[in-house]
Amino acid sequence: SCSPLVDAFNRRITYLRLSVTDRCDLRCSYCMPERMEFLPRKDVLSLEELHRLAIAFIDRGIRKIRLTGGEPLVRRDVIELVQALGRRIGDGLDELTLTTNGTRLAEFADDLAAAGVRRINVSLDTLNPGLFTHLSRRDRLAQVLEGIAAASQAGIAVKINTVALKNLNQEEIPALVEWAHRHGHEMTLIEVMPLGEVDGDRTDHYLPLTAIRDALDARWTLTDSPHRSGGPARFVDIAETGGRLGFITPLTNNFCAGCNRIRVTATGQLYACLGGAEQVDLRAALRSDAPDQMLAEALDEAMRIKPERHHFEIAEGAAPTQPRHMSLTGG
Ligand code: GTP
Ligand code: 5AD
Ligand code: SF4
Repeated sequence: SCSPLVDAFNRRITYLRLSVTDRCDLRCSYCMPERMEFLPRKDVLSLEELHRLAIAFIDRGIRKIRLTGGEPLVRRDVIELVQALGRRIGDGLDELTLTTNGTRLAEFADDLAAAGVRRINVSLDTLNPGLFTHLSRRDRLAQVLEGIAAASQAGIAVKINTVALKNLNQEEIPALVEWAHRHGHEMTLIEVMPLGEVDGDRTDHYLPLTAIRDALDARWTLTDSPHRSGGPARFVDIAETGGRLGFITPLTNNFCAGCNRIRVTATGQLYACLGGAEQVDLRAALRSDAPDQMLAEALDEAMRIKPERHHFEIAEGAAPTQPRHMSLTGG
């Protein structure tokens, strides 16, 4: 069927987050344990299958595709998928983009721009090399900064994603905002979410963004902005820095009523919600005797099971609300 994707709560689904790998070259301590177990490679969809899936979604009214991971740029030949999907920009697709940790961005920036990527989100939690290495357990800050510069140079707008972490980057947040805005980047702060086990307790570093917003309000002149990026962030303009700052607040201010997105893992499991267990096996549909029909049915099923909202809770010593890591679901 070619009918648009509308869920049981009458939300129109137009944004697909497609994970191309669960692997990553960093080990951010709030995201995964040092000894993370990755998916067996044999279970991962081929690039050709990912492409067919994406096209099936475009045919059902998906207008924005974000490639995610893990780290999407560690997947071999991922640029071929970007190029293939780039041909649908203006022909069904409004936007093709990625969320990346930036470590390999310098290498790919020109190819991404040529393929039609106009905007990219880069995760960066600190500008302090020691803290970067501590947080991500890898010494890669210089590469990330080179990657960001290369993307800008290639004409791609870079948005910086920063997870707000108590006693880690908390004190640095104003300096990060100033740095981002000085370089012409928008920035979005994110609350840490209880997704999958990590070494230690990530709730030790949970920082509600209400507190950060109050602190920034005391320092600068913040004005609520009507700007929307298509994701869950709500923005303010900051007079003194001349830039825009977004807040992604799954814990302190649930934004699920306006949800427009679904997620597919690198093995073709569709998760209707980042926080939910409900899933549909698109790989089985894709590999069946009647893939078109089976995929159409699977997407209809996804619309029936998409939950109204997530129920994240963050509490000292408590198990993560959702056992699946962000790197598997695709953020
Ligand atoms: P824009 O297109 O720039 O709006 O990006 P985005 O916010 O949709 O995507 P990005 O990959 O930059 O996501 C930033 C953070 O927001 C990540 O940590 C995501 O997991 C989180 N996020 C995105 N969508 C949702 C959602 O539906 N629910 C929750 N809880 N978090 C989300
Ligand atoms: N909670 C919040 N954000 C997370 N990220 C990874 N794991 C988590 C988590 N448990 C962030 C990354 C990146 C984005 C895709 O998700 O830092 O910015
Ligand atoms: Fe990799 Fe992103 Fe997870 Fe860091 S947060 S380990 S960069 S997937």
